[in-house]
Amino acid sequence: MSRLIVTGAGGHLGQRVLSHLLDTLHVPAGDIIATTRDPDRLADWVARGVAVRAADFENAASLATAFAGGDRLLLISTDALDRPGRRLAQHRAAIAAAEAAGMRHVVYTSMPEPEDSPLLIAPDHLGTEQALAASALPGWTVLRNHWYFENLFFSMPHALASGQWYSAAGDGRLAYIARDDLALAAAVALTDGFEGQRTLTLGGAKAFSTEEIAALVSKATDKPLAVVHVPLEGLIQGMIGSGLPAGVATVFGSFDATAKAGQFEGDAKEFEALTGRKPRAFEDWLAENAAALSTPAAH
Ligand SMILES: NC(=O)c1ccc[n+]([C@@H]2O[C@H](COP(=O)([O-])OP(=O)(O)OC[C@H]3O[C@@H](n4cnc5c(N)ncnc54)[C@H](OP(=O)(O)O)[C@@H]3O)[C@@H](O)[C@H]2O)c1
Repeated sequence: MSRLIVTGAGGHLGQRVLSHLLDTLHVPAGDIIATTRDPDRLADWVARGVAVRAADFENAASLATAFAGGDRLLLISTDALDRPGRRLAQHRAAIAAAEAAGMRHVVYTSMPEPEDSPLLIAPDHLGTEQALAASALPGWTVLRNHWYFENLFFSMPHALASGQWYSAAGDGRLAYIARDDLALAAAVALTDGFEGQRTLTLGGAKAFSTEEIAALVSKATDKPLAVVHVPLEGLIQGMIGSGLPAGVATVFGSFDATAKAGQFEGDAKEFEALTGRKPRAFEDWLAENAAALSTPAAH
């Protein structure tokens, strides 16, 4: 069996990947190495037999130690959302370290259609995909992950409080998918023994318009929610007026611009082919998370 490394194991996705490796796919704990900036947070996994090592993509020396002895590595994209370019440098450092460690395969969490995307963080993902393609790694899997249902935890509490959801996404549709399904897909891609180079786009069961999402959220929470279409610049100025730093508001605005351009449309075909399962339906996820959607909180 290969030794599997999961980077960013302390994050939401990384935690669920570990869970799927052990509990869904029944990988022996001794075959798994979890890396994170803060190993103390992963004590529960150590107790289950997973090796936990310190790794920070900003610190190349930490990566050489952390990646030693690994065969296949899941590179979870980092969260430096407001610092485009910085993430790319981090990911390049991780890929260089994977190469140096003699890794056979790297799985990377990308985004849909990163080429020619209005999304301001797209160049980080595209650049990482290009770094994988240019590397000496024998194999890699790019998982172009669609947007998490969980992203709605950030936008919906505010929108439901006022009953108005300001959007610059126009008629764009989004193939949202549960973060846990993407964790399963990453765990499968890490363990399925695939040796070549592949790019898979992982979307949910259905792509919804903003109006359809609002109607389903409204039904699940029993609260009124109307979509108010605004121009992109108005959306960005509104977010700045609500207290968001201009850089962050501009990045968030570019999410709507990308949806409007139709680049978050998609389907579940490649998710189903990879995992052999259907992704969780949006309606089911909403039913379980209706209360949390009305409550500002970190998810
Ligand atoms: N598709 C979507 O809708 C969507 C939404 C949000 C984010 N994302 C992307 O998917 C990633 C995983 O999502 P998530 O929900 O797990 O996000 P999260 O909980 O915010 O996790 C952030 C991740 O970044 C890692 N990280 C940050 N700085 C790092 C560094 N210097 N070196 C190594 N790792 C670093 C963290 O690892 P440790 O804390 O363990 O060190 C952790 O895995 C995000 O980081 C982001 O790139 C996608």
